[in-house]
Amino acid sequence: MKKLISLVLVVAVIFSLAACGKKDAATSKGDGKVTVGVVQTNANESDWRTANTKSFNEAFEEAGFEIKMVFGEGDHAKQISEAQQLIQEEVDYLVVLGIQAAGWEDVAKAAQEAGIPFIMADRKLDLDEKLYTAMVCSDFEAEGVKAVEWLKSQALSENKIVVLGGETGNSAQIGRSKAMEDGATANGWEIVFNQNMKGWDETLAKQAVADLIAGGTAFNVIYAENDNMARGACAAMDAAGITYGKDGDVKVIAFDANQWALKLVLEGKFNLDVECNPLHGPRIVELINKLEAGETVDQNAYVTEDMFDCTTITQEVVDARSY
Ligand code: AHR
Repeated sequence: MKKLISLVLVVAVIFSLAACGKKDAATSKGDGKVTVGVVQTNANESDWRTANTKSFNEAFEEAGFEIKMVFGEGDHAKQISEAQQLIQEEVDYLVVLGIQAAGWEDVAKAAQEAGIPFIMADRKLDLDEKLYTAMVCSDFEAEGVKAVEWLKSQALSENKIVVLGGETGNSAQIGRSKAMEDGATANGWEIVFNQNMKGWDETLAKQAVADLIAGGTAFNVIYAENDNMARGACAAMDAAGITYGKDGDVKVIAFDANQWALKLVLEGKFNLDVECNPLHGPRIVELINKLEAGETVDQNAYVTEDMFDCTTITQEVVDARSY
């Protein structure tokens, strides 16, 4: 009988040690602080990204979370290796903003195996719902559809569209580009240029438009997938004496709605700016606090976003912007 009891005790100890190998997602590390790994895209990708990083840092500090932020700097493979490292360091939560939408299955599985909740922010990744805990993202195709519907409402005699896409392969670029490509097909519009700018780069966008002008390509719509690239396009048109905006020959459509860009909308230089809200810090804090409390959370949450038209925007709207 004694042998049986000691055998049972040994087995119990073995199982309890094995269980320790997996993190309990609802508890923080020994220091009591929740540690969150954030896999960010690039440090200086855009004014939007700067506001996004600031939002995480400020919200996490206020919440008493420890943040471990790593940057891919335009390199998907670097993001993957940084994410794997954070899993090794046993962060309590892993928040990913992907340079690429595809290629995250192994990281998500490793996080799951380690008992670390995998959260997507900003940009949805190509992952089965079984592989992530929650998503707080923008619906980028819906943003693009807003712009397409606005352009349709302008009832221009012709639509010769320059598409300045964002960095290739993330859900922001994919969704916004798809919306315009589908819109052009449905409405019989002509896309005269459709290229993605590495790193969402303003200078590359300016050069692309300058080259189009120098090459004699006719266009009357700029569809720039973020504010910085729209500003680059405007600089190229300024240099060539081409008018744009509210009273110009070329309509300018931008995305993000940074405050500086909304000032340009108010001045009539951008015709439309579709909001993509970067303030994910408080959203992720709320999500993690619910998970820490053992509450259920929406697995898929899309950010509510607005759009701003130069014919209706006001100074009060511009002044009220928080990024
Ligand atoms: O994922 C959001 C996009 O990434 C923004 O529109 C762009 O400015 C940023 O770099």
